[in-house]
Amino acid sequence: MMNMLRVGYPAILAAELLKDFPTGIELIPLPDKLDHDAEIDVWIPDPYSTRAARVWPRLHGVKLVLALLAGPEWIPPLVGPHVTICNAHGAHNTSTAEWTVAAILTMLKYFPLYLEIKRGGQWKRRFEANAHYEKITGDTRPLYPPVMLEELTGKTLLLVGYGSIGKDIERMLAPFNLEVLRVARSPRTDPEVHPVSDLDTLIPRAHVIVLIVPSTAETHWLIDAPQFALMRQGALLVNAARGPVVNTDALVEALNAGKIRAAVDVTDPEPLPDGHPLWSCPNLLITPHVGGSSPQFAPNSLRVAAAELRRFMSGEPLHNVVQQGI
Ligand SMILES: NC(=O)c1ccc[n+]([C@@H]2O[C@H](COP(=O)([O-])OP(=O)(O)OC[C@H]3O[C@@H](n4cnc5c(N)ncnc54)[C@H](OP(=O)(O)O)[C@@H]3O)[C@@H](O)[C@H]2O)c1
Repeated sequence: MMNMLRVGYPAILAAELLKDFPTGIELIPLPDKLDHDAEIDVWIPDPYSTRAARVWPRLHGVKLVLALLAGPEWIPPLVGPHVTICNAHGAHNTSTAEWTVAAILTMLKYFPLYLEIKRGGQWKRRFEANAHYEKITGDTRPLYPPVMLEELTGKTLLLVGYGSIGKDIERMLAPFNLEVLRVARSPRTDPEVHPVSDLDTLIPRAHVIVLIVPSTAETHWLIDAPQFALMRQGALLVNAARGPVVNTDALVEALNAGKIRAAVDVTDPEPLPDGHPLWSCPNLLITPHVGGSSPQFAPNSLRVAAAELRRFMSGEPLHNVVQQGI
């Protein structure tokens, strides 16, 4: 009799979330502090790398890893080259694209500043707000803007990464009639996507630059001091991708110089330690890597994993391979 495929998953997940999984498998809950060795064929790691790393040394026989993340860059170094790894492509599009839209509007509408003002319990500060605008944009004309909130409509957006999430960001921003400049690894047309080698020539045109690429050797420090130097005064950099895509020291310098503003869901290092210079930079919104988080995180990513598992079991080509086991 053929052995059932053994699929290990984080015990913390409610069993009902696995209802879409194919029949004919043995589901093995793996507690975070696994105190015995376990033989499994397929591993669904905990999305928190530290918890997954505690479990991995106890596992034997793993042939396939089904990650619950779109960007599982910490998994290949953990499991080595012999295991095939699939990501949760598409599962976090909505949450991450919504975070990006919210971050852009939050910064252009100066919500962090108004939150500070509200804490002081004062119904005023239009002039302080104007001063803030003048400082970051360099626009000192009186009554520009008469009310400080900026408009996103009509601005130029540079989308660095035009994959699954990048396309959703563009779709969600469509009503704002932005000029969209797109960059990816490979150029294409309809719509026009520029090669990454064009990045430096496109940066000066952008009011808003969104990073939504994977963390790889090629994207490491894609945004470094020379790129900050090319940005317009007051440009908004939004990092929804991964911390190492930006050189943190260069980001701190550009923010402290009052050259740009930024909204980042991801940092390098992560978690950002207490007292790190980034915490005290002006014109910066930091969220602690929650862009992909939503109540739909687990159901969506497990649905993607279940579909991939079904393909694996029937010998069909897998859709979301990020590392082919050797
Ligand atoms: N903040 C969060 O919580 C959160 C949540 C989900 C995902 N993410 C991050 O977002 C990333 C993108 O996710 P996705 O699902 O959209 O991935 P995807 O569909 O694979 O798209 C990736 C895009 O990045 C481009 N790219 C790859 N390497 C590049 C390079 N060296 N230079 C320029 N562009 C490059 C690709 O170019 P081609 O189109 O030419 O291949 C593609 O357009 C993930 O890898 C993850 O790191 C973050």
